[in-house]
Amino acid sequence: MRRARITGVGHYAPPRVVTNFDLEKMMDTSDEWIRERTGIVERRWVDEDTATSDLAAEASKKALQMAELKPEEIDFIIFATLSPDYYFPGSGCLLQHKLGINHIGALDVRNQCCGFIYGLSIADQYIRTGTYNKILLVGAEVQSKGLNLSTEGRDVAVLFGDGAGAVVIEPTDEDRGILSTHLHADGRFATELCVEYPGSAAPQGATHQMLNEERFFPKMNGREVFKHAAIRFPQVIQEALEANGFCTQDIGLIIPHQANLRISEAMRTRLGLPPEKVYNNIQRYGNTTAASIPIALSEALSEGRIQDNDMVILAAFGSGFTWASAAIRW
Ligand code: ACO
Repeated sequence: MRRARITGVGHYAPPRVVTNFDLEKMMDTSDEWIRERTGIVERRWVDEDTATSDLAAEASKKALQMAELKPEEIDFIIFATLSPDYYFPGSGCLLQHKLGINHIGALDVRNQCCGFIYGLSIADQYIRTGTYNKILLVGAEVQSKGLNLSTEGRDVAVLFGDGAGAVVIEPTDEDRGILSTHLHADGRFATELCVEYPGSAAPQGATHQMLNEERFFPKMNGREVFKHAAIRFPQVIQEALEANGFCTQDIGLIIPHQANLRISEAMRTRLGLPPEKVYNNIQRYGNTTAASIPIALSEALSEGRIQDNDMVILAAFGSGFTWASAAIRW
């Protein structure tokens, strides 16, 4: 049976470290508040000249190196981000050019925090059907340039960071690799966590009003997000386990989207798992949305937290609302 397997993983974060104490100088917040509510200690921010596709290119080069592939051997690109370089064209095209590859397809995925798992699901189908053999999947974000860094925007601004993670996906005949993916959405909650502008929902001529009202900044109903995330994370992980006939004892490592340490802890408690079964690095990166899972996967691998044949579960929840999981036999 032809399955899809991750053969290369890499991540890249910009070198500039922004601590909670740095944020205290920009807005009315405190290290204590941020740590207690989110677990975040620091995050990375890009400099003026760096865009999302630049971070993606660096992470991609590392993933390609691990897979022992040259960029021109890739036959399809999937790029997950909520912070593209431009409103259009998609960042996948820009990444393709930066890697020096010609003519292969480049698909942008816009499923926010679930973007990487949605992208993984697409790659899985293409590999299983034999359409493509070497897919580059990237999750990358530059959040810092789009945040309201005044006290007014502090509830959102303290959460997010910049970074990128990439994987190479290839076919295997072995009984390992991506076993299943599970995707969900509930559009009733679309405005609980969103950026309104630019967008076609705005009336004609509303541009100046939208700018004056600062509706280009992300807005979030934090409590509503928390409530739903705490339910959906364990639910979608159980779904992945049941689809494959596994129970929680079979889990080698869960790599959740790094939304908030308290959300990860709520999920872990609900599943009855010990701390070592759930990977967290939000302390050092903040929430990097579509990039958080591949960055965490990359670090977990390099720290030896994942061994051959381990059952790895990826899970995410985010804007949409969307939620998703993937079961992988490593
Ligand atoms: N620093 C200091 N004070 C703040 C900050 C801040 N950065 N942000 C908000 N506050 C204040 C509020 O103004 C409020 O003050 P008030 O009581 O005088 O009105 C007080 O802190 C409490 O605000 P709440 O919103 O009630 O705080 P809460 O305990 O709910 O924590 C948080 C807020 C951390 C956002 C929480 O709701 C949460 O974790 N939600 C989940 C959202 C999340 O993690 N989103 C990540 C992105 S989505 C995703 O990836 C799934």
